[in-house]
Amino acid sequence: MAYPYVSDVEVRVISKYFGDPAHRRIDTYVERGGYKALEKALSLEPDAVTDEIKASGLRGRGGAGFPTGIKWSFMPKEPTRPHYLLCNADESEPGTFKDRELIRWDPHQLIEGCLIGAYAIRAQHVYIYCRGEFFEVNQILAKAVEDAYMKGYAGEDILGTGTTIDITVHQGAGAYICGEETGLMSSLEGDRGEPRIKPPFPAAVGVFGMPSTINNVETLATVPHIVLNGGEWYRQWGTEKSPGTKLFCVSGHVRKPGNYELPLGFPLIDLIENVCGGIRDGNRLKAVIPGGSSVPLINAEDARNCELDYEGCVEVGTMLGCASVIVMDHKADIVKQIRRMVDFYAHESCGQCTPCREGSAWTARILRRIEKGQGTEEDLDTLMEMTEQMVGTTICVLSDSIAAPVQSSINKFRDDYLELIRRGDQAGAV
Ligand SMILES: Cc1cc2nc3c(=O)[nH]c(=O)nc-3n(C[C@H](O)[C@H](O)[C@H](O)COP(=O)(O)O)c2cc1C
Ligand code: SF4
Repeated sequence: MAYPYVSDVEVRVISKYFGDPAHRRIDTYVERGGYKALEKALSLEPDAVTDEIKASGLRGRGGAGFPTGIKWSFMPKEPTRPHYLLCNADESEPGTFKDRELIRWDPHQLIEGCLIGAYAIRAQHVYIYCRGEFFEVNQILAKAVEDAYMKGYAGEDILGTGTTIDITVHQGAGAYICGEETGLMSSLEGDRGEPRIKPPFPAAVGVFGMPSTINNVETLATVPHIVLNGGEWYRQWGTEKSPGTKLFCVSGHVRKPGNYELPLGFPLIDLIENVCGGIRDGNRLKAVIPGGSSVPLINAEDARNCELDYEGCVEVGTMLGCASVIVMDHKADIVKQIRRMVDFYAHESCGQCTPCREGSAWTARILRRIEKGQGTEEDLDTLMEMTEQMVGTTICVLSDSIAAPVQSSINKFRDDYLELIRRGDQAGAV
C-alpha cells in the first residue's frame, strides 16, 4: 500500500516505511537493521548515549522544542529510586496526526527509541501513554511490544547485557489535557488528569513521585537513527539551532494534505505550493496556523517569509509547535474557525485555574455572539484584554493556547471580525 502523498524533496528518516505494513513485523524490522541502535547503545555508558543526543541538537517534537539530550541530563545519575521514561502518545492537538502514523507504520522504531531513552536516563520502566481513541494503533503497539519481549529486546537481561527495561502501553481516555506532561502523570497514577504546578519538575518528582522524563513519540522515534549514525550525521539537515528533519502534518485547503518529512528550515510557502500541490480549486492563500491550534495564525504575507524551524516561525510572530500546518484559503471563515478552536479548549480545560476555566468559556461566548452578528467593536477590545489575562497566570499553558489564536486573528484579520459586526445578524453559528 503506498502512502497517500509523498514528495521527492522529502528526507524520509523516520517516515521511510510509511505505507509498508510488512515493516510492522519484528522480523522485517530486524532484517532492515532494526534494534542495531539498541545493541550499540547498550554497549556504551548511559551518559555517552545522552551526549550523542546532545550533539545531534535534537529538540523535543511535542511542541515546546526543548533540547532532548539536555532534558535527559537532568535525571539523577545515581538511581537510588526508580526512574521512569514516559512516552507521550496522547496526540490530541487539533491539526496533528503524525504520532499515530509513526506508531501505525513503524512501532518498533518507537519501541527501540524508548528502550534507548530509558537506558540513557537509567530507567527500568517505560510507559507509553497512548490516546485511547487510536484503537488500531494501540493494538499494533501492544503486539509490537509483545514481540519485542519475545525476541529479548525488552524485559529482563536485554540481549544478554544484564539490563532490564519493561514497557507498559497505557491507554488514555481521550482528554486533551492528559497530553500535558504533569496531567499525563496524574492520569497514569489513576487520578484525574489535572496538571501540577512546576517546580518540582518531573526529573526531580515525576510519576509516582519518582524522577521521570517525558518525551513525544516523534522525539523518541528519531533517537535510534542518531545513536546508530551519530549526532553530526543528524546535523546534515536543518539549521544550526534547529537541526534535523521533522514531520509536517499539513491539513486544510491544499490539494495534497498529509504527513511530509522535511529538513527543518524548509520554506512554508514551498511546502504549500510545491510539496502539497498548492491551494485547492485555484483559490488564494489567506492564513496559516503553522504549529497546531495552540500557536498564533499568520497571514499570507507572513507565510511567504516563514521558514519552518523554531526560530523562523518566531520571526514572523508565530511558533513551530508540533508542526501541524493548517492552511486556509481566501474563502475560509476565520472567526468561525477561531470560535471552534476556543470551544474545543473551553471543553478541554480541566477547570483548576480561574483565568482558563472562566476565560475560555467567556471567550467562546463572545466569539459566538460576534459570529451571529450580535457583536460590537468593543467586544474586540474585551477579547484582547481578557485573553491577555489568560497568559502566564495558570498552572499549565492550555490557557495561553487560547490567547494565541484569538489575539493573532484579531490583529491580522480584524476586518473579518468587523465585517460580521457590521453585517448584523445575517451570519449563523454552527
Ligand atoms: C495542553 C497541552 C497538551 C499537550 N499535548 C501533548 C500531546 O498530545 N503530545 C505531546 O507529545 N506533547 C503534548 N504536550 C507537551 C507536553 O507537555 C511535553 O512538553 C512533551 O510531551 C515533551 O516531549 P518532548 O520534549 O519530546 O517534546 C502538551 C502540552 C500542553 C500544555
Ligand atoms: S490552565 Fe486550564 S487546563 Fe491548565 S491546569 Fe489550569 S485550568 Fe487546567
